Amino acid sequence: MKMKYLMTPVLLTLMSMQAMADDCSVTIDSTDTMKFDKSEIVIDKSCKEFTVNLTHSGKLAKNIMGHNVVITKAADARAVASDAIGAGLENQYVKPGDERVIAFTDIIGGGEKTSVTFSVDKLTAGEDYTFFCSFPGHISLMQGSVSIGS
Ligand code: CU
Repeated sequence: MKMKYLMTPVLLTLMSMQAMADDCSVTIDSTDTMKFDKSEIVIDKSCKEFTVNLTHSGKLAKNIMGHNVVITKAADARAVASDAIGAGLENQYVKPGDERVIAFTDIIGGGEKTSVTFSVDKLTAGEDYTFFCSFPGHISLMQGSVSIGS
């Protein structure tokens, strides 16, 4: 079973989302055209920890077309993204110590990958959360919902 997860990203994508949910993880790809390949993350309520794997299937460097995944309450996303601009690439475009940020990955460029694992205790069922890229200007095209599923 373990070997199956070492298959190519294409095959991994073709595998059912249910299988990913059962693993308490999701893999999101990002591109040179400033897009994520998913618009929704549903975290199974049985998960204690959840992992977001981020890949970048483009070619552009991270200082030009860098992407990350930041998770906040939906209501906080715009303000967090705005405050992130001044943080710079050296802080992964997240304001240091920003308590509104539930989880975030490093910024990656084309061909790179990263991941973040966080405690599901930080999220409340019924609350609306957002995942987005905090690279300046990307939130408008790169965002989706995060919620606790049943
Ligand atoms: Cu981005």
